[in-house]
This record gives sequence, C-alpha cells and structure tokens, in this order.
Amino acid sequence: MKRVLSGIQPSGQLTLGNYIGAMQNFVKLQETEECYFMVVDLHAITVPQEPAALREQTEAVAALFIAAGIDPAKSNVFVQSHVRAHAELGWMFTTLAYMGELERMTQFKDKSAGKDSVGAGLFVYPTLMAADILIYNADLVPVGDDQKQHLELSRDLAHRFNTKYGDYFKVPEPYIPKVGARIMSLDDASKKMSKSNPNPGSFIALLDPPDVVRKKISRATTDSGREVKYDPANKPEVSNLLSIYSHCAGMSIEQIEAKYDGQGYGAFKKDLAEAVVSVLEPLQNKYNEIRSSGAIHDILKQGAEKASIAADKTLADAKELMGFLAPR
Ligand code: TYM
Repeated sequence: MKRVLSGIQPSGQLTLGNYIGAMQNFVKLQETEECYFMVVDLHAITVPQEPAALREQTEAVAALFIAAGIDPAKSNVFVQSHVRAHAELGWMFTTLAYMGELERMTQFKDKSAGKDSVGAGLFVYPTLMAADILIYNADLVPVGDDQKQHLELSRDLAHRFNTKYGDYFKVPEPYIPKVGARIMSLDDASKKMSKSNPNPGSFIALLDPPDVVRKKISRATTDSGREVKYDPANKPEVSNLLSIYSHCAGMSIEQIEAKYDGQGYGAFKKDLAEAVVSVLEPLQNKYNEIRSSGAIHDILKQGAEKASIAADKTLADAKELMGFLAPR
C-alpha cells in the first residue's frame, strides 16, 4: 500500500479544475492506498486573508472534500494548521532551500508580478509544501499540472536532506492525470481555469447552481469551425471542453468525438452542461447536508489526531538527524 498526500488551498471557491485535476484522483486513490488529504490554510495566508473568510472557507473546503466522495473512514482528512509539525519541518526545509531555486518557481513569478510589495511567505511557500509531503513519507502526490515544479523542488529538498544528514526521506512521485491535468478557462483556453480570475464566467465553481453552470457552458468560447475534435494545438477551446466532458461523463475522448461526429457544437455543449450538472448536483446536496450537520468538526479532529502521530514521528527523526538537542 502506498502513502498518498495532497492539499488544496481554502482560498475563494473551488473550481471544476480542482475537482478534475486533483479531487477525482483523491477519491480514486483512497480505494487502494493510505491517504492524507488536507486543507492547506498555512499556505493560504501567504496572500492577504480576511480572518472570518479564511475560517469559513477552510470549513467549506473540508466539507467539499467529503461531498466530492472522500470517505473519512478511508482517508485522513484534516486542516494543515491543526498538525503543528508542518510549520516546524517547513522552517527546517526553508533553511535547506536556495534563493535561486525559489526565484525560479513560476507560481511565485506569476503571483508576485507587478506587485509593489510581496510577502516573504509567498517566496518560501514551496518549502512548506515540501514539508507537507515529506512529513508523511508520501510515495504519491496527486496534483494538477501547475504543481509539478513545486513537487520537483520537494524531491530536490528530500535528496538534499538525505545527502547531508542521512538517508531518511522518501522521494515522492507526482500523480498527474493524463487528460485534465490542466483545465483551462472557459473564456480563454490559453489560461488555466482559476478561482482567482475576476471574470466568474471563466470558471465553473463546484457550488455554482445548475442554471449558472448551463449558462456558463453555453457562453464558453469555442474555436471557429464546427468539428468536435480533440486537438489541443489547433482547437484549444473545444479540446478543453472535451476533457471536461470526458471526466464528468466517464467517457473516453474518442467516444465523445464519435457521438458528435458531424453535429456541430450546439448539441455537444448542451450535453456537456448536463454531464457537469450530473456531477455537481449530488455533490452540492451532500455538501449542504454536511455543512448543516456540523459533522465536519469531528472528522477534522480525528483526521488531525491520526496525521499528527505520523507527522510528529517524522519531525522528531528529522530533528535528531539535523542535530537538535532533544529535551530530556
Ligand atoms: P491549489 O489549491 O491551487 O489547487 C489544488 C489542486 O487543484 C489543482 N488545480 C487544477 N488542476 C487542473 N486544472 C486546473 N485548472 C487546476 N487548478 C488547480 C492543483 O494542481 C492542485 O493539485 N500548492 C498547492 C497546495 C498544496 C499541496 C501541498 C498540494 C500545499 N501543500 C502538498 C500537494 C501536496 C496549491 O496551491 O494547490
């Protein structure tokens, strides 16, 4: 059995991109592997957060995990700040990272571009992410394509620690879906679908009501022509919609292409909207149930207790190897 670890930030609304790129794989992996899934609130504060909103969104994302099908009987679901060892090991990895490698992170470049002042937390963000992964000695990290570079750095930091202090950390592997690792914006297929895009028509939020989903999909930009064909280089918009369709309906791209052969975009987009609604509607019903029951707090408490056992052990071992004097 492999160990799996991943996290999602509690910032803004989660999108269909988060679901297809990451959460669907969380649900799949929990059937066979030992899984740790967390809401990464310590990462969220690397950009300004309003305290009440951060609290609400942390609970909301945890409830969305469960609503999406993560079963707390199979997976450890918790909030990152509830497991204190993350921050401590994160600091230790910060001291192992080089300024140059952190400066090369494209997410840092994107998020800091054009800003007058940039928080130091945003800069060292990937070292905390490395701690998140390595603290559980994870084998596999299910993420979307945009996290690949951060994961590469986690692997480098694991190697660096092992070379300097003794072979201890497992070097994790990314687990990235073949299709859907990068769900693009509905209004511009050159950009990633993102909750921080100011145009709400550009993304589908997991909590968008069905009619909003239908409207957003009917207005989604499509390439000129009328052929429903997967060809990311020449038909990026339609290819993106095909990826979404494939994940939501559980059909292969070829099956979908064959179904709409010679039919144009109209029928395809209509059915696509229904496929998305058929995934989101039950998820939203379950989400509302969980939020109103208050059950999430117990789930998070138990998840943090179990995660802390594994994390505290790794932290103690890493501190010993690094040469910290243990309290007696
Ligand atoms: P975050 O919160 O930005 O995104 C959560 C997950 O969703 C994936 N994702 C997408 N996949 C496909 N298409 C998209 N348009 C799309 N948008 C987002 C992301 O790749 C990610 O898997 N740094 C991480 C959180 C993190 C983490 C970790 C992940 C912190 N510690 C340890 C794995 C392991 C982040 O900001 O993800």
